Formats: sequence, C-alpha cells, structure tokens
Amino acid sequence: MKILIAYATKSGTTRICAEKLAQLLPQHQVTLADLSVIPDLSPADFDFTVVGGPIRMGKLHKTAKKFIEVSTFVPSKYAFFICNGLSDGTDEYFKKNFPAPLLESALVYTSLGGELKPDNQSRFDRFLLKMFIESNRENEDFVMPTIYTEEIGRLADKIKEHI
Ligand SMILES: Cc1cc2nc3c(=O)[nH]c(=O)nc-3n(C[C@H](O)[C@H](O)[C@H](O)COP(=O)(O)O)c2cc1C
Repeated sequence: MKILIAYATKSGTTRICAEKLAQLLPQHQVTLADLSVIPDLSPADFDFTVVGGPIRMGKLHKTAKKFIEVSTFVPSKYAFFICNGLSDGTDEYFKKNFPAPLLESALVYTSLGGELKPDNQSRFDRFLLKMFIESNRENEDFVMPTIYTEEIGRLADKIKEHI
C-alpha cells in the first residue's frame, strides 16, 4: 500500500517522529516528504496520508497548516500528528489549528511529544524558547518534553490495521 507521511518542522523533532513512523511501516511503500521541500503532493495519490507539524506559540507550523487546508483528504484515510512541548495543550492545539470536520473523519490525531533544543533554534527562537521555559517554570505540571516513542508505535499499528 502507498503511504504518504508529510511533515513540516522547525528544529527537526517532527522529522525524527516522521522517520520513526516510516521505519515502523516497512511492508508498505512510504513516501516521506518535508513539505517545505516538496509541497505539491496529493493525498488522493496514496492509500493513507499522515500529516505532522510542530506547535509554536499555540500555532501549527504554517506549511503543514496550508497543506491541510488545500488538500482533499476525504474519502481517503488519513491521520494527523503534532509535536508540542506542553502535553496538556494538545486537545486545544488540535481544536484551534485543524478544521473540525477533518478531525472528525481522521482515523486518529495525536501528539507524538516534543523536544526543546536550544541549539537548533534561530537566535530569536532561542530567545522565545527561553521565555517559554521560564513562563512554565511555575507550572508544577510542566515536565521537559520528550518524543513519545510508544505513541509512534500505536499510530503505526492503527495505520496497519486500517489499510
Ligand atoms: C519558540 C518556541 C515556541 C514554542 N511554543 C510552544 C507552544 O506554544 N506550545 C507547546 O506545546 N510547545 C511549544 N514549543 C515546543 C515545540 O512544540 C517543540 O520544541 C517541538 O518539538 C518542535 O518541533 P520541531 O523541532 O519539529 O520544530 C515551542 C518551542 C519553541 C522553540
């Protein structure tokens, strides 16, 4: 089966998640696409499409957002994932950044966790990241984010079950 895993990333974590997901689907023909490099792909050409992108300042990466807005998904099968640092914001991030009808028809939409890597940021983003960490210091539920390896496995299993 043909699977498209299309992603956008700013500091590389979403790419890592997309690559891990692709590795878990070896029996399928997977196209792994950085949307900043290959933007004109159509979910209609694939049996299953996964789109992933990071959240910054509450917003989904604009390249992933645009791809989701211009693509025709239904009736194809598809799933979405985000990478984010605040796990308790996940539901809200999906609600605010994805069209509700698309979420309703998705096989699954989930967070695959995130990473906070000062080294991979532009100067401005490093500054924002520092503020982001500072502003969450008083939040006792805040833990430094990591990639949810098990959730990547669950996502791969769900895709395998449905194609
Ligand atoms: C400047 C900046 C702002 C961020 N804003 C948020 C945010 O609003 N909510 C959140 O959950 N995570 C936030 N994060 C964490 C990112 O979602 C996390 O670092 C993610 O792994 C980035 O993915 P990427 O490496 O694919 O760009 C922010 C990170 C940075 C650097």
